[in-house]
Amino acid sequence: MQIRSSDTLATHVERLLVAAFEAAGLEGRGVRAVPAQRPDLADLQCNAAMALAGAAKRPPREIAEAVATLLREHAEFTSVDIAGPGFINMRLSPALLTAQATRQLADPQAGIAGETPETIVIDFGGPNVAKPLHVGHLRSLVLGESLRRILLAQGHRVIGDVHLGDWGLQMGMLISELSRLWPELTSDGEWTANPPFSMNDLQAIYPRVAAECKADEGRMTEARAATARLQAGNADDMRLWETIRRVSLDAQTTDFHTLDAHFDELNGESLVQPLIPGMVEDLATRGVAKRSEGALIVEVAEESDDSPMPPLLLEKSDGAALYATTDLATILERRDRLHPQRIVYVVDQRQALHFQQVFRGARQAGYADGIELVHVGFGTVNGKDGKPYKTREGGVAKLHELLDEAIERAAGRLDERVDRAELAHAVGVAAVKFADLSTYRTSGYVFDAERMVATEGRTGPYMQYACVRVTSILARADAESAAMGTMDIAEAAERTLVLLCSRFPEAVQSAARRYAPNDLADYAYDLAQAFSRFYAECPVLAASSAEVRASRLSLVALTRHVLGKALDLLGIRVPERM
Ligand code: ARG
Repeated sequence: MQIRSSDTLATHVERLLVAAFEAAGLEGRGVRAVPAQRPDLADLQCNAAMALAGAAKRPPREIAEAVATLLREHAEFTSVDIAGPGFINMRLSPALLTAQATRQLADPQAGIAGETPETIVIDFGGPNVAKPLHVGHLRSLVLGESLRRILLAQGHRVIGDVHLGDWGLQMGMLISELSRLWPELTSDGEWTANPPFSMNDLQAIYPRVAAECKADEGRMTEARAATARLQAGNADDMRLWETIRRVSLDAQTTDFHTLDAHFDELNGESLVQPLIPGMVEDLATRGVAKRSEGALIVEVAEESDDSPMPPLLLEKSDGAALYATTDLATILERRDRLHPQRIVYVVDQRQALHFQQVFRGARQAGYADGIELVHVGFGTVNGKDGKPYKTREGGVAKLHELLDEAIERAAGRLDERVDRAELAHAVGVAAVKFADLSTYRTSGYVFDAERMVATEGRTGPYMQYACVRVTSILARADAESAAMGTMDIAEAAERTLVLLCSRFPEAVQSAARRYAPNDLADYAYDLAQAFSRFYAECPVLAASSAEVRASRLSLVALTRHVLGKALDLLGIRVPERM
């Protein structure tokens, strides 16, 4: 039976299994083929006989025997054996493995299954204007970018949006302070193209004015007035706001580039402010929102809640909108403009309650009909003390400081070479990213740059080395004019490699379903290790014959294809040489 193009190796075998179980008079639906626990005895195994025995009132071994007899008729298997209480152990034919490996190598997607395409918004990054990116943005950017790539590879239409914190009192504070420092800024003029302040100035000014406003009521009144003027669309304030936003975003974009984080849209909280009055009114008239002690709230508690969920706060008693109000309006805006089937928020797990409230509020309001809302939460990046990472001085570490530390340590491990700086950069960044991606997202992890840049173990540099090595074998083959050829899967290490490559689509699917790039990171690591074993056991360029060499070169190319794709989906760049 030919493998259908939409099938993986496992699902192809599952079709045969389902048919065999049904022919044996059993419920075949959902029967799975999983990697064999004893690779020395089998490639895949099926455990369904045990699960079905009870309902069928038949001994599991008898079921397994009946199924095995039917399976043995297929050319796909060289052997089908029963073990223990009724495990069905299947050894796949070399022809099937060759067919699988050949089509995977030829497929630009390396077998990734296309899903029914959805329009998916990924909301990630989320920095606030005038503040540098810091340790708290690392995971959102790294996880968000990988998820963006994974969902794209599955055939979805994906829209990455950075959702800047670019509105509110913070902006009024900055505007009032900047126009004190540079009075010319409040007039129309040449300055917008060449503002007198830089991101460094903004970073220094913002905490100072925030503190001053807190301490001095008069200063706060001034900031509030600026905020109100901005909200009313005053041209001078708008111009200044736009410039602050641009200066700030330009600086932040440098960090996005370093991390290879790509955004299709650079929207922010400001975009939806005009929608808020109408939305609030709509919610109030329909009775979704109600007044409580002067504030406007939406009750979002549900009976099944373990602990009572506080109401969503739409408007404070002074009429000011809140974080949740903006997120609710953003759902509306995205719904009407982008028509998404899914909105995914890659945001710190500590905001879980906020998103639960917003999602419930959106559903109650009927704003999210046909839209799946997902909060992909993540744990903190910690210091060696296990607490959220701080600088030596006890402050919040800037993102580029963390990356610089890894880059410096990576440089320390490289020998003197011309391209050392560039290479150290690539290795350091990959080290940080892979460490992040290889931890399940809800667990926190310790930022340990020295461990991250190690070339052994589950690290970014190890993965890069592995990939570079595979590529260099192909380059040497090219130089020696050694060609690839028909694969002939004879050795155990070759078989393991092909089987593992065949599981790439499953790893991608699992990473997508669980929003867990670590499934893919783990997979990539296993593949790199399997390749190491193969390379140690099976000479490639020095193979015993031209046919074996050609076959093994094809296997090397397959590994390169799958490993390269996996690292690309993780957002890990591989240098040309190391
Ligand atoms: N700017 C927010 C913060 O600093 C994160 C934004 C996350 N995205 C969202 N749609 N709420 O906490």
